[in-house]
Amino acid sequence: MSLQDKFELLARKNAEAEAGGGEKRVAKHHEQGKLTARERLDYFFDPGTFVEVDKFVTHRCTNFGMEDTKFLGDGIVTGYGKVAGRTVYAYAQDFTVFGGSLSLTMANKICKVMDMALKNGAPMVGLNDSGGARIQEGVGSLAGYANIFHRNVMSSGVVPQISGIVGTCAGGAVYSPALTDFVFMVDGTSHMFITGPRVIKSVTNEDVSMDALGGARTHNQRSGVAHFMAADDRECLDQIKRLLSYLPSNNLEDPPLVANDDPVDRKVPEINETVPDNPNRGYDIKDIIHAMVDNGEFFEVHALYAPNIVVGFARMGGRVVGIVANQPNHLAGCLDCDASMKGARFVRFCDAFNVPLVTLEDVPGYLPGTDQEYRGIIKHGAKLIYAYSEATVPKITVVTRKAYGGAYCVMSSKHLRGDVNLAFPTAEIAVMGPQGAVDIVFRKEIQAAEDPAAARQEKIAEYSEQFANPYQAAELGYVDEVILPEDIRIRVNQALDACASKRDTNPPRKHGNIPL
Ligand code: HXC
Repeated sequence: MSLQDKFELLARKNAEAEAGGGEKRVAKHHEQGKLTARERLDYFFDPGTFVEVDKFVTHRCTNFGMEDTKFLGDGIVTGYGKVAGRTVYAYAQDFTVFGGSLSLTMANKICKVMDMALKNGAPMVGLNDSGGARIQEGVGSLAGYANIFHRNVMSSGVVPQISGIVGTCAGGAVYSPALTDFVFMVDGTSHMFITGPRVIKSVTNEDVSMDALGGARTHNQRSGVAHFMAADDRECLDQIKRLLSYLPSNNLEDPPLVANDDPVDRKVPEINETVPDNPNRGYDIKDIIHAMVDNGEFFEVHALYAPNIVVGFARMGGRVVGIVANQPNHLAGCLDCDASMKGARFVRFCDAFNVPLVTLEDVPGYLPGTDQEYRGIIKHGAKLIYAYSEATVPKITVVTRKAYGGAYCVMSSKHLRGDVNLAFPTAEIAVMGPQGAVDIVFRKEIQAAEDPAAARQEKIAEYSEQFANPYQAAELGYVDEVILPEDIRIRVNQALDACASKRDTNPPRKHGNIPL
């Protein structure tokens, strides 16, 4: 074979690998509004930086005549490149080849880049578009999944792991994403389920559409499996890139510091009256978040799920912070099972990746009721306590209004190693709200009074005077400073600065036992 022939053979093989499952299948894929695996990676990485690995790998299955149907690359594109100049490892499953289903060799390709990402300390991004285990391969495919799951677990808390769900993902194809840090879905074209509608019909006789069962809305709003929803593939990839901009490459690095022109000592008088006079009226905590952070830019995580707690990333003085805030506009900001899990997971992510936590607190307590009790609010609520308590990153807290009962303890209080705890003059830090407290403590006295209604009002006023303020906590040093709302940005920036080189550790142990 001449040198020229050898070069041409390579060109032919490259072209064959790049053709995926062939023109017809690619056309069908495009018709559904989806990009192919290569188009996705091309859009995702900085131009010209993507390096492909294992392009000519093929499956080794000989069942059902599979040896006659082989595709170079075997239904997945893997490799590494740069996103905003930083190294990221990635794989993209190719639905046009055997429905993106997972063969053992495909799994080996994924494991190879996962091992590289872990060893080199760079984020791992998976773009999933797969019908699950390749049925023709049997246990070989299941072994492949287990190998991936194990790597997901070993990488957890070491490098950020991000999953884009960009097609219909079933079976094993949803469990690897579930083990990663963040899951992105595309509205209308992506699905996640362990078994599809047809299997459900045959097992439980239930009729359900693909979208209702496992569409982007279902998982963003109801199950909480997904954290982000995009309108199409490109928006999904843009969202992943934006998330990466807030993250360090690994747990030994700090998140990237990005200078900006928003003064650290900017006052925010526009939020002086955001917290209403009437303690029973709601307000939008995001007004305070937007006013406080650099240039008003807040990247919300899990926006559609448990809206009674708001979590997400922002910058303050150019530093990345993770914000956790109760939302008085939903369920009065009460902590329920979903909000506790949402908050706990975010707090643990931030702690694992050196992202300081800024907590804004306005919560009347854990949500009462049989529904919550039966769903296990006790164990789910405990997750949030656990997460805040074990976190050793800088923890800054601002009580904007209610900090009642267990919620006072859980939301990054001094007692769970809060570093700087501030309160607005509107803060109410007490075991419970005035009405509830008075009805319990002074019940007999009120009943015996000549005018019980007036006596009750009197007691409420007395209780409010004593407890519905931040000063008892400030006297005890549980609140470091009572500040005007307009100073929140200045004070939080100063606190972050003061804690920038914080070092704190937990006792040596194999691992704790978070109430799962
Ligand atoms: C092999 C598969 C496949 C699979 C799809 N294909 N899934 N091949 N193994 N798991 C192939 C089809 O045969 C077809 O090949 C091509 O991919 C496209 O599939 P279609 O069905 O034509 O596409 P569509 O109508 O869009 O439906 C997509 C789908 C459906 C919803 C994903 O294919 C489906 O339900 N697949 C099975 C899903 C599933 O139950 N997986 C669980 C596996 S068990 P041709 O040649 O015709 O183009 C599992 C266990 C792991 O994953 C457990 C770990 C904990």
